[in-house]
Amino acid sequence: MRKLRVLVAMHDVLVPPENAAELPPEETWTYQMEFEVVKTLRELGHEVRVLGVGDELRPVRDAVAEWKPHVVFNILTDFHDVVTYEAHFVSYLELLKQPYTGCNPRGIVLAGDKALSKQILAWHRIPCPAFAVFPLRTKRAKLPRRMQFPVIVKSAVQHGSAGISQASVVHDDQELAERVGFLHRTLQTDVVAEQFLQGRELTVSILGNERLEVFPIWELWFDKLPEGNEAIATSRVKWDVRYQKRIGLQTGRARNLGKDLEEQIVHICKRTYRALHLSGYARIDLRLDQEGRPYVIEANVNNDLSPGEDFPDSARHAGLDYGQLLQRILNVGINYKPAWMVE
Ligand SMILES: Nc1ncnc2c1ncn2[C@@H]1O[C@H](COP(=O)(O)OP(=O)(O)O)[C@@H](O)[C@H]1O
Ligand SMILES: [Mg+2]
Repeated sequence: MRKLRVLVAMHDVLVPPENAAELPPEETWTYQMEFEVVKTLRELGHEVRVLGVGDELRPVRDAVAEWKPHVVFNILTDFHDVVTYEAHFVSYLELLKQPYTGCNPRGIVLAGDKALSKQILAWHRIPCPAFAVFPLRTKRAKLPRRMQFPVIVKSAVQHGSAGISQASVVHDDQELAERVGFLHRTLQTDVVAEQFLQGRELTVSILGNERLEVFPIWELWFDKLPEGNEAIATSRVKWDVRYQKRIGLQTGRARNLGKDLEEQIVHICKRTYRALHLSGYARIDLRLDQEGRPYVIEANVNNDLSPGEDFPDSARHAGLDYGQLLQRILNVGINYKPAWMVE
């Protein structure tokens, strides 16, 4: 294997301290991914430098110009604290003619907008839930006639279930208007309302540019969800470890889907990846409806690589340990051909 100069770009507040390896997990969890990625890239034998990115582009430019990394391992997910600027940071790397890992800027923009991405998927006839968009300045939110309650209300651009709780599933226009108003006020983004899908929750991890590698279909479920609660990944489900234990949160390989449905899901996910012009790696989230039919709910680019997350877990089921996965991500990044490279 070729030894590479790898510059790991991460949020400056998430740069792990020197003694991170000796600290207990409750102190390191915020930068666990950053820590594991750097450590593992070093164990793979690469020459690794960390670039903490704050509000300045100059350090990025200097690091690229002075050290000439073969590749930037990009785990930065916002700039100026704006999530949608994730794409612009990658654009900047392309303008510097710097190879990088993960998704290209166009894919990040398309996948990062839950309204725009579904407009594209619908054009391709890729199954996704019916939806309505309520832009930030909208005063009155009312469900279009073509849709039926219940619907789930969410930010068009936030990730990590920000603003998603049990109250996100609404049953009439009054609840809808309240929830839309609440998200407009608290998150300051456009909002989408989607047909609420009652069935199983699945996610599919994909790696590649043109040729795609699809890892086993993964499922999220609850063993002890309280009566009356919807089985959805609220922000509490994603981030509150004690609550996860209480409701018996489980993730693992999806069982008993049947061969036909599995093939259909893989096909849908590959088409989604291509329709949204994704590259590098991504995770496509899906739900089944009451009849067991699959629908795409969103595509996550540059998704979480922390050990124990769905992406590395499902890669491991496909036979790739964490180091092999990061090496594949590096290779796919180096092989990506942005516009400046094409003759
Ligand atoms: N249309 C839907 N039907 C049912 N549940 C949904 C739907 N959309 C989202 N959810 C639930 O909300 C969670 C978060 O929504 P998602 O669109 O994946 O946003 P995020 O970017 O925050 O992960 C999903 O994992 C799922 O549990
Ligand atoms: Mg999601």
